[in-house]
Amino acid sequence: REIAIINGPNLNLLGVREPEVYGAETLQDINQSLSELAEKLNLSLRFMQSNAEHEMVNYIHQCFEDQISGIIINPAAFTHTSVAIRDALLGTQIPFIEVHLSNIHAREPFRSESWLSDVAIGTITGMGSIGYQMALRYWDQ
Ligand code: DQA
Repeated sequence: REIAIINGPNLNLLGVREPEVYGAETLQDINQSLSELAEKLNLSLRFMQSNAEHEMVNYIHQCFEDQISGIIINPAAFTHTSVAIRDALLGTQIPFIEVHLSNIHAREPFRSESWLSDVAIGTITGMGSIGYQMALRYWDQ
């Protein structure tokens, strides 16, 4: 089975960006750990990060065409704004898990609203980079 790991805007800055909120690891570090776990779980991964909403929408469409089994997505700021990403996930019906490094419910009030949570398999928020690994383990069944 193949799972896509999708990260939204500004997550390319991990390691530099507010490390007290998002941790010291870079996105490459996180993806490297995920690759190692995926190998143990016998899953294939594909990775994408974009700062552009339309690229994320197009990528979700591509995942649908490629019949991948699931998506782990940290939509970053688009979590709180994007009807388009919600509709792409709903339209393709690809099962997905929403991950946030920080606890979106413990920050500014606008962050506690997600446009995706109610249509996700589940949401992991505030567990740091381990959250991605927890999400990947969902497909180990
Ligand atoms: C984030 C939380 C969002 O509110 C924020 O816009 C991000 C990252 C997280 O992983 O904690 O860019 O999704």
